[in-house]
Amino acid sequence: MAEAPFGLLAELTHRCPLQCGYCSNPVELVRRNAELSTDDWLRVFDQARALGALQIHLSGGEPLLRPDLPELVVHANSLGCYVNLVTSGVGLSRDRLRDLASRGVDHVQLSLQDATREGNDRIAGIKAFDRKVEAAAFVRDEGLPLTVNTVLHRQNLDNIAGIIAMAEEMGAERLELANTQYYGWALRNRAVLLPTREQLAVADPIVSAAQARLRGRMEIVYVIADYHEAHPKPCMYGWGARQLTVAPNGDVLPCPAATVISSLKIENVRDSSLHEIWHNSPSFNAFRGFDWMQDPCRSCPRKEIDFGGCRCQAFQLTGDAAATDPVCSLSPARSTVDLILETEMAPSEVPAMAMRKMS
Ligand code: SF4
Ligand code: FES
Repeated sequence: MAEAPFGLLAELTHRCPLQCGYCSNPVELVRRNAELSTDDWLRVFDQARALGALQIHLSGGEPLLRPDLPELVVHANSLGCYVNLVTSGVGLSRDRLRDLASRGVDHVQLSLQDATREGNDRIAGIKAFDRKVEAAAFVRDEGLPLTVNTVLHRQNLDNIAGIIAMAEEMGAERLELANTQYYGWALRNRAVLLPTREQLAVADPIVSAAQARLRGRMEIVYVIADYHEAHPKPCMYGWGARQLTVAPNGDVLPCPAATVISSLKIENVRDSSLHEIWHNSPSFNAFRGFDWMQDPCRSCPRKEIDFGGCRCQAFQLTGDAAATDPVCSLSPARSTVDLILETEMAPSEVPAMAMRKMS
């Protein structure tokens, strides 16, 4: 039997005021009229807690767009869960945050697109920078822990020192610097987003120095630009191992991007319980453990470190979700990634960013 998940990522809605081109949500977003009801979410939270989850991440899209957010927070809190609000900061007034904190929000994760107003608002597609700075101040004044999350790519990587300084100024306890992962909408913009080797060579030591300088004050988590690496990331720390995601329409996903694997039959909370789906569904069991692996992963000593990489990336780049992640230098498909790096980073090929909008 699989061990209990640590947490539930509750994607309350795909609606969002921002238009980020790096968005990893699916190309086809869930419409408002297909979103789970309040009662559905209350049941999902009960089931997640009964399954053993102790953290509930209220995410999206922008969770502040759900009018029932206060009720959902109260319920998650009443179950004894640690409640994390994942937000763009747009729509987070001082009063609203105070109310949510009084109802049980324990932590806020705030996105930041870049260190300057101009850069942030260009990447976000709307004027959001000042709202984010204000939102960070409200969180700090309320005494809640703050994580700043910045998705890195070719358009902002040169400003990494400024982003770190900005997170310090905002009073963050934690900064996530996550190189873009190419799923969903982001895959469309890969040629605009892929960082160059030169950018990474400058950024990596800046991050390492900041990690050392800020140890004990602000934790910096750095997610690698895996296309440029010799080994893949340990995606999700293994499939169906630590977390489950419930999409706005109730689809239950072993990882937030799992809908890209078109061969996977996805279960829904309207038809089945989280307990049943987590333990017994074909989708959650498809890549658990090591038995599903092919060579070279099957006989590789790193399999317990990286779990063969990312299943979604393997499917997107090879058509086989059980293949070795093609970013691995041992993968027979590594040449696919090398070709992408070679062609999509040629300066003459750079297209305009396709902004994310719900049509
Ligand atoms: Fe990881 Fe598989 Fe590559 Fe080994 S062969 S390093 S397990 S992805
Ligand atoms: Fe789905 Fe990596 S994003 S397994």
